[in-house]
Amino acid sequence: MTEMSDHDRILADRARYVSGGIATPRLVVAQAEGARVTDVDGRTYLDFAGGIGCQNTGHRFAPVVDAIKAQADAYLHQCFMVGVYEPYVEVCRRLAELSPCTGEEQKSLLVNSGAEANENAVKIARAVTGRPAVVVFDNAFHGRTLLTMTMTAKVKPYKAGFGPFAPEVYRAPAPYPYRGVSSDDAIAGLKRLFKAEVDPATVACVVLEPVQGEGGFLEMPSDYPARLLDVCREHGILFVDDEVQSGVGRTGQVWAIEHYQGVEPDLLVSGKSIGGGLPLAAVTGPAELMDAVGPGGLGGTFGGNPLSCAAAVAVLDAVADPGFLAEARALGETMRARLHELASSRPEIGDVRGLGPMLAVELVDRSADRAKAIVDAAFERGMLLLSCGIDGNVIRLLAPLTISAEELDEGFRVVEDAFDATA
Ligand SMILES: Cc1ncc(COP(=O)(O)O)c(C=O)c1O
Repeated sequence: MTEMSDHDRILADRARYVSGGIATPRLVVAQAEGARVTDVDGRTYLDFAGGIGCQNTGHRFAPVVDAIKAQADAYLHQCFMVGVYEPYVEVCRRLAELSPCTGEEQKSLLVNSGAEANENAVKIARAVTGRPAVVVFDNAFHGRTLLTMTMTAKVKPYKAGFGPFAPEVYRAPAPYPYRGVSSDDAIAGLKRLFKAEVDPATVACVVLEPVQGEGGFLEMPSDYPARLLDVCREHGILFVDDEVQSGVGRTGQVWAIEHYQGVEPDLLVSGKSIGGGLPLAAVTGPAELMDAVGPGGLGGTFGGNPLSCAAAVAVLDAVADPGFLAEARALGETMRARLHELASSRPEIGDVRGLGPMLAVELVDRSADRAKAIVDAAFERGMLLLSCGIDGNVIRLLAPLTISAEELDEGFRVVEDAFDATA
């Protein structure tokens, strides 16, 4: 009898011991560095997934690893509600300095996940306004908790079988120019929602991703966020900017909303890459909003864990550097040119889109089959790639922003190959 490889053994144990409710990839990780992941059988993959957008600074970014090691030598969990520690405060200081939100004095709350941060943004918005309702958008993804699953727009696999859903969540159209939904349509749809479904005087907040991530890397048209903000201001509704996937340098600005001139959200929700590979998420906004909830109303046992905070200080220092952002924007231009080149000879690609280096292609065909085949073919060729979109027919590129020109070229050659092998 031949001996099982480590890969097969761990996957067999995974099938035996781990909930089948979690999607099962074929990759079994042993090591990761920069833009590469090595599996337990010694095979190396070029990583254009980044653990779903969590590695903007690359795997084991040296300043992050150093900060984690130093922090581990000092102390681990304390609970910020039991003992104050500086790394938490320092993350909040950086978020204040980098905040795109309205108001002078910015403050933050640190939590464990993007979903938890969105939950807290809604709690704060409700506390501030005294209103119950939340408006979200088509193609949105905000998380998997009861409230954020309700706010999320895709039924399978996120919502099917999990009802009843949280009350007072209303959905408006989102711009999707490639599929015929303009900013005008989206604004008209919002106004119709206010006539037909929910009184705007009862709406606490809207929650918008400036580039919808899981929904298909749909960047908002240049006029839309400002027009949405006008509607919010007219009705006293808070504008929550969910940048869990689009933030922390992913679009070549620290926050994607900075691409939209004059749009200052009320609350910013960040997560994923902010922890450099450790779990951390945040809600940031002006003191008058962030202090509206009394002591004890916000928080959590592990939120703002010292290791995550030490890592986040290193990440935020890196991405706030204008040189880092300029390189990210240059990377975006190179990637966009390569994607247009890819699309020019492949009519099955209908749209090339995104902001800066947060880029994707949407296939004309609305079935998920081809995109899945391309992702599988890339995997066979040593590359981690992800699809997304309501129809699952969008291929997104989440390469680390620190990727070398050679690695990027290698990645594009694999993508080209994967398209051709599945044609
Ligand atoms: C825009 C956005 N918001 C929220 C979330 C939820 O984050 P988490 O999985 O950390 O709860 C995600 C995750 O993909 C996301 O992309």
